Amino acid sequence: MQRKRVAVLISGRGSNMAALIEAAKDNDYPAEIALVLSNRPNAGGLGVARAAGIATDVVDHAAFGKDRAAFDRALQAVLEKYRIDIVCLAGFMRLLTPGFVAQWPERMLNIHPALLPAFKGLDTHKRALAAGAKMHGATVHFVVAEMDAGPIVAQGAVAVHTGDSEAALAARVLAVEHRIYPAALKLVAEGRVQVVNGQCLIDGMPVPGLPV
Ligand code: GAR
Repeated sequence: MQRKRVAVLISGRGSNMAALIEAAKDNDYPAEIALVLSNRPNAGGLGVARAAGIATDVVDHAAFGKDRAAFDRALQAVLEKYRIDIVCLAGFMRLLTPGFVAQWPERMLNIHPALLPAFKGLDTHKRALAAGAKMHGATVHFVVAEMDAGPIVAQGAVAVHTGDSEAALAARVLAVEHRIYPAALKLVAEGRVQVVNGQCLIDGMPVPGLPV
């Protein structure tokens, strides 16, 4: 089977990007990382991608001011230039316009550091601790126009420990992110994920959770 061409969109250090690059080194993995694209010229992950021999590009949002649609059109042009099949948002901290999202139906994934639909948005670990949540985790989902919504492809949970610091909890969740993102992309690239009534089915079955 032809490997799917994946673009990983980042804004920062790119540890999830690195996990996807690592997974795609396996010739049996159904996707290749064809491009790493950042909205920040100084994103740390760009250097990591270049060192791994992966093409990188930058569309600097600052150059577009408040014009989100123009920024998204520039993103789309780069994705088309690289003949991208699947987009993976990996710590990409820009809201995307509905018009852009509509061009990637069930072909754009995001990873969010919480068990969606809990704790959408920012500062998820701090808010989980403040809420006294006993379980926390990470979610990979298809991107829809609404932020941090969309059908869940994979979810992994961790226990919140008594006295956990935000940093300790974040690190435990990040380890889960690095497992579930490559696993979710693999399923999507293999064409095994189907959205029925707003929920993902994998090989026709509901998405399983990960053990704590
Ligand atoms: C990750 O924890 C990711 O889940 C989160 O940003 C971090 C990026 O780290 N994404 C969001 O909060 C999206 N709203 P990374 O650059 O090392 O992958």
